[in-house]
Amino acid sequence: MTDTAFLLNGTPVRISGGSPTRTLLDYLREDQHLCGTKEGCNEGDCGACTVMVTDENGPRALNACILFLPQLHGKAVRTVEGISGPAGQLHPVQVEMIAHHGSQCGFCTPGFIASMAVAHTQGRTDFDTTLAGNLCRCTGYAPIIRAAEAAAHTPIPDWIHSDKVILSAQISSEGSGEAESLSGAFRPTNSDDLADWYQQNPTATLIAGATDVGLWVTKQLRDLGPVAFLNAVNDLQQIEQTPGHLHIGAGVTITQLRAAITPLHPSFAELLRRYASEQVRNAATIGGNIANGSPIGDGPPALIALGATLHLRRGDEMRTIPLETFFLDYRKQDRHPGEFVAGITIPTHAPALRCYKLTKRFDQDISAVLGCFNLTVEVDKITQARIAFGGMAGIPKRAAHVESALLNQPFTLETLHSALPEFAKDFQPLTDMRASSAYRLTTAQNLLIRYFHDLNGTQTNVLEVAL
Ligand SMILES: Cc1cc2nc3c(=O)[nH]c(=O)nc-3n(C[C@H](O)[C@H](O)[C@H](O)COP(=O)(O)OP(=O)(O)OC[C@H]3O[C@@H](n4cnc5c(N)ncnc54)[C@H](O)[C@@H]3O)c2cc1C
Ligand code: FES
Ligand code: FES
Repeated sequence: MTDTAFLLNGTPVRISGGSPTRTLLDYLREDQHLCGTKEGCNEGDCGACTVMVTDENGPRALNACILFLPQLHGKAVRTVEGISGPAGQLHPVQVEMIAHHGSQCGFCTPGFIASMAVAHTQGRTDFDTTLAGNLCRCTGYAPIIRAAEAAAHTPIPDWIHSDKVILSAQISSEGSGEAESLSGAFRPTNSDDLADWYQQNPTATLIAGATDVGLWVTKQLRDLGPVAFLNAVNDLQQIEQTPGHLHIGAGVTITQLRAAITPLHPSFAELLRRYASEQVRNAATIGGNIANGSPIGDGPPALIALGATLHLRRGDEMRTIPLETFFLDYRKQDRHPGEFVAGITIPTHAPALRCYKLTKRFDQDISAVLGCFNLTVEVDKITQARIAFGGMAGIPKRAAHVESALLNQPFTLETLHSALPEFAKDFQPLTDMRASSAYRLTTAQNLLIRYFHDLNGTQTNVLEVAL
């Protein structure tokens, strides 16, 4: 069995034994006594536990509370204690937080510093996005944003640079890249090894980004039994463009997916900007988002509206199905024991795709209703209709009756209005803490009307809170 090994604030650490689902946050606070990193919600929502994690792709902000130790193997972690320099020099974002009075009680501050240091290293200045996953209850965000702006474009400190240099040297000297049993968990490096192992261990839990599975441990205190970590399976992390199509591996993160689809499907990319927070998007994978079968996941409705196909693998057997047929019933998917999600394929061209996410809060909130529309209009007639919703049924679901009512009709406001009663045949939504049944049904209908105005060039942007 191999130990989990990574750089912690510039110093190599090795962890032998223990549970493979121990979180980084617990390890930092209990074993390393690095108590700067705080526990707020312990479920990925508040950002108090944010750390900087660097690998061959550069630095990312991640939530330590839902990050299991084996996910860090071969990477570099910096906590707030290591974001300042080895001789106690402050990082530019720390200097500016002090200068701009960006901290009051200080509980959120280490997490903000980690997110700000990552954005600083990446040269990013879209702070409303990079800091949306960090909550502050007392200072207010204006001084924090001012501090981030003041630190932007200052040089990256040497000690932050050094992580990548040390890691590159380690990676080039490591060699084989074979599957390992890491701290008691299986960690394959290619999908052939994963397929063999999972066929033999069909009741095991696969862990990709752990943004769902993490909560099974921190909130439900579940013992997961045998687990396999997918984050080293390189061939599942590829995005390949062929004429007319994009093939996306199951292990592609939401951040990577958003970057890839921005030029192709800008409305879908904008939806993904509102998917959780920077920290969650940096960990969560599209394969996990599909496999968990949530009726309120953001990926599936957009992908169904696009006409995505899903690739599944069990041992040497591959099968490809339309994504919408994967979701059978509430939390019941068409997935056989030992079968995993290998990837999806989507078209590159869908200029009429629009995705509308309705939530109580603009950032970092789960959809109450998500409507995704993709109509093809030829010579003024609707010749193809793909409309899919999240939050309206026990599964992500197409609006089949609405689609039929639209097909072969002129693309006019009258046609759309006459299709509105069909929504009640497609959906009988629940009332829950996010929205009432009546709200869901009414807003779903309104989104179809919004789609008409949007495609006709009327300003329907609801980002006014961000302007
Ligand atoms: C604070 C917070 C906010 C969130 N906000 C949103 C949001 O706005 N929108 C949204 O859609 N989701 C949201 N989520 C949910 C979560 O981020 C997604 O469902 C995520 O995409 C899951 O991906 P993962 O890689 O983290 O999956 P994991 O947690 O690793 O796994 C999830 C499930 O999928 C299985 N699995 C993973 N990969 C595979 C595979 N390749 N084949 C078969 N099974 C697999 C796992 O065994 C598990 O059952 C949020 C989560 C948190 C913690
Ligand atoms: S403690 Fe709230 S995100 Fe981790
Ligand atoms: S300074 Fe108190 S929560 Fe942000």
